[in-house]
Amino acid sequence: MIKSVLSLLCSIVCVSLFAQPKLENHGDWARIIVNDKPMLIIGGELGNSSASTQEDIRRIFPHLHKLGLNTVLAPISWELLEPQEGEYDFSTLDHIIHEARRNELKVVLLWFGAWKNSMSCYTPEWFKRDNKRFPRVHNKNGVPLEEASSLSANVLEADKKIFCSMMQHIRDVDMNEQTVIMIQVENEIGMITEPRDYSKDATKMYNSQVPKQLTDYLKKNTKRLNNNRLQIKTYKGTWSELFGNDIYAEEIFQAWTYALYVEEMAKAGKAIYNLPMYVNVALNSRNRTPGEYPSAGPLAHLIDVWHCGAPSISVLGLDLYDKGYRDWTGRYHLPNNPLFIPEIRLEDHDAMRALYAFGHHDAMGFCPFSIENYPLTRQSNSDWRNIDISKDDQLNVFSSNSSKLSPLVSSYRLLRQTEPLILKHQGTKDMDAVLLDNDTRETDIKFEDGTVLHISHTYSLGWEPGAKSDKWPEAACIIIRQDKDDYIVIGSGIVITFSKANGKMVGIAKCEQVEYSQEGEMQIVRHLNGDQTHQGRHIRIPFDNYQIQHFRLYEY
Ligand code: DGJ
Repeated sequence: MIKSVLSLLCSIVCVSLFAQPKLENHGDWARIIVNDKPMLIIGGELGNSSASTQEDIRRIFPHLHKLGLNTVLAPISWELLEPQEGEYDFSTLDHIIHEARRNELKVVLLWFGAWKNSMSCYTPEWFKRDNKRFPRVHNKNGVPLEEASSLSANVLEADKKIFCSMMQHIRDVDMNEQTVIMIQVENEIGMITEPRDYSKDATKMYNSQVPKQLTDYLKKNTKRLNNNRLQIKTYKGTWSELFGNDIYAEEIFQAWTYALYVEEMAKAGKAIYNLPMYVNVALNSRNRTPGEYPSAGPLAHLIDVWHCGAPSISVLGLDLYDKGYRDWTGRYHLPNNPLFIPEIRLEDHDAMRALYAFGHHDAMGFCPFSIENYPLTRQSNSDWRNIDISKDDQLNVFSSNSSKLSPLVSSYRLLRQTEPLILKHQGTKDMDAVLLDNDTRETDIKFEDGTVLHISHTYSLGWEPGAKSDKWPEAACIIIRQDKDDYIVIGSGIVITFSKANGKMVGIAKCEQVEYSQEGEMQIVRHLNGDQTHQGRHIRIPFDNYQIQHFRLYEY
């Protein structure tokens, strides 16, 4: 009794002294607040096995710092934390936190517990071997799959127990410093090969009434549901009666079981240490059906089921390995889901896509996958471990004037410099971004007062070496309007001309290339005029140059 009163008092005092990381959520955009300050997650996710030994962590984290990341998304797995039942080993976690601090990185931990990409491969051996106590899902033929059952109380309790111990440990070692800022619960949950679990228990539940919690939610939110199938007319019945007699109804059922499971995990973990929590999604693209794609994950058509079942989860994160970047980001940037990209295929064009995510979608974060494999400089087409970085004079992430840096590194340095500016304009009409490519070679940004910025790919000028090529690479910029005629442009490969609704002509009053110091001070790198603005006709950042320019317009 005395112990629990003391622990309650302690938590009240601790909480009031150190506000823990939290999400400032505005519905369609959000940002994480750490040490009482907002931040963008200018991040990268490690490959699955790259933070599993202390040696790797020690070797890799300094490289991440040089790449310009402010946050690393690092897996932490059940098999390493609880190798024997009830015996915990937090040494890998401690090492991640320690090396992150040494390299000025924040950490988002990815909990590889009961499921990692549908499978239960990251559960410890003692769990795997005891499939009586920890049952698996079954396919239609009654064959168990290597996927733990989302309906098993034993699975949930065991997963929750270690997850909560981990949260307690993070709280104990990190509440002050706040290196760990967010938690991903499981990884790309979804049932593979089948749309739902066909075990006896699951089938019994599937044939019983849909819970009132879900039908009430659907009724209450009927006008803002993201899937027509959930707009039901009657609110009493079994899953197939309410949602249709097919695999898509089965998928809704399975999603419900996953969401409830995740809610139990998140709620219990947050009760110990209230960090923001999210889940990530494996997409359902390429005309696949549920089960062919991981069924029942936090997919765009199941967002309402997940929101209802797992209210402790703040964000449904988008993992993007498919074509259609603009389309997918639009589908996950919703009135009730801020855009967070915990994974995207690691490619040079992520340099442009990151700008678009932060500038156009007010994204919380952007994180290419297996980021440790990305080279710092362009000359290094091979392994980054072979690069002689000691000779590189560009290790300061607040410096961006090296043409040697790889595209994503250059872009991240611009983002790190302008982070306070972007944060200041998030959620306002004064910030937007464009992403140009072979199909979309020009576009406009229109402001409410009738000012229009016409933004084209620099290849459209025909001056640059790549302009004659058949396929134009992606180019992008963020535009921030600081005042009526005062703008900042951040990007690469764009040319801007202007017009006003009042019909007046618009000219460039002044243009300069700038940099921002760590303290947020703008410094002029050079005054741009003459050839650099085509004698006052346009604002331009050549392709493959990564720059911040400040310009003022005037009417005549
Ligand atoms: C998505 C998963 O979430 C990652 O852990 C990793 O397996 C990648 N796919 C691999 O491409």
